[in-house]
Amino acid sequence: MKATIRCTRPISRVDERLFSSFIEHMGRAVYTGIYEPGHPTADEAGFRQDVADLIRPLQLSHIRYPGGNFLSGYRWQDGIGPKERRPVRPELAWFAIEPNEVGTDEFLQWCERVGVQPMLGVNLGTGTPQDAADLLEYVNGALPTHYADLRRKNGHEAPYGVKLWCLGNEMDGPWQICMKTAEEYGRIACETAKMLKWLDPTVELVACGSSFRDMPSFGSWEKTVLRHCYPYIDYISLHQYYTNEDGDIPSFLARSLEMEDSIREIAALCDEAKAEQHGDHDVALSFDEWNVWYHFRVSGKDPEKWTVARPIEEEDYDDVDPLVTGAMMNTLLRNADRVKIACLAQLVNVIAPIMTEPGGRAWVQTIYEPFRCASVYGRGVSLAPEVEVESYDCAIRKAVPYLDCAAVQGDDGSLNLFLVNRSADEPIEAALSLNRGYAAASLQTLRGTALAALPCTFSPASAAFTLPPRSWSMLRLN
Ligand code: AHR
Repeated sequence: MKATIRCTRPISRVDERLFSSFIEHMGRAVYTGIYEPGHPTADEAGFRQDVADLIRPLQLSHIRYPGGNFLSGYRWQDGIGPKERRPVRPELAWFAIEPNEVGTDEFLQWCERVGVQPMLGVNLGTGTPQDAADLLEYVNGALPTHYADLRRKNGHEAPYGVKLWCLGNEMDGPWQICMKTAEEYGRIACETAKMLKWLDPTVELVACGSSFRDMPSFGSWEKTVLRHCYPYIDYISLHQYYTNEDGDIPSFLARSLEMEDSIREIAALCDEAKAEQHGDHDVALSFDEWNVWYHFRVSGKDPEKWTVARPIEEEDYDDVDPLVTGAMMNTLLRNADRVKIACLAQLVNVIAPIMTEPGGRAWVQTIYEPFRCASVYGRGVSLAPEVEVESYDCAIRKAVPYLDCAAVQGDDGSLNLFLVNRSADEPIEAALSLNRGYAAASLQTLRGTALAALPCTFSPASAAFTLPPRSWSMLRLN
């Protein structure tokens, strides 16, 4: 099949925070994931260097921490000070034992070593607004006050200066420790946000949106939360994981279009709140959990409860999953005017591009490379792709284009296209209309599990290239 692509109209500058990820105290993300004292590659603080070496090429902007559902029962004071005095707790979100060997200081100092910014969460499940303010004082406080002094006593003289904070996590979900109604959450989030901004006016705050689009309260939850919180927040969150439990691949590959719908719907509610409250600022979107997540669920494995580093949700990604995550990343790039933060969830072992063996090797999964390419080459100005291509109908949607595309003009003048061919059996012969010349082109394609450089016919006026069936590709013009 043939396709034509034009991309000239700028959408927005891509916020570097679109290339962020997430580490939760869940499964083996922390313990035997990023942290494993005694591992042959562990640094002095006990963090695995082999894992850090796989994280660095992703050029992540931020890592969200410490949860996730874990956040809603987390007492941050458990995770500071001398390790031998830290309490061991039953952890109710994931039915595990939390040893608290890694806490706020260890995580923030690891971020410095890995070269990423932290995005911290405050507990609004069992936690109070005062607990949240105390944590902010501990992390960012510059005055000679109790929690700032405690941070100094614990070995970190300078404030960490963490700018991005989440007001709880998925508080609409019945699975959440101390879930809240929209009214209850709207009130506590508003009062917490006021205290945090009074204490440190430089912080940016993310309020919880719905846990996913099929929640019955999707939309009405956001309206209520925005009614309470609009004056004090900068972002509202979206979360979405897609599954292919029924094996309907054409529908699975079309799911990213639903993600696009969610973004438009929640953006409209943010605009409505601004208009209703005669506001002076836009609330942007933080898509702070997104990925494919289902393989582990269908495997039927249920690791023993109440253990440290309980090995849960260790997805084994196949060759279709990177096409879905690639199309999800494209969706984020195409909506760069509204989505300013996005976290691939998660980063290590749990629903993750990077896997480890305790005491052994670390490796990357199929979803790693499309995300890495977008992060490295998707910086600049997102351009609106005008694509002409055939479409198909599937169980969840009509008129799904066979070709999904995002385009980014790099600051170095390059043009970078990220492409997914959704067709099971037909290659797409694509022609790209250009309004300026480029000297060189390269095309890299992921089909199956192998990344390959493919031929790309290039002329000053157009680049012609072929995208194999069911593939993800990156075209780079310099
Ligand atoms: O990322 C795994 C879990 O998914 C998170 O803890 C929660 O926020 C979401 O439901």
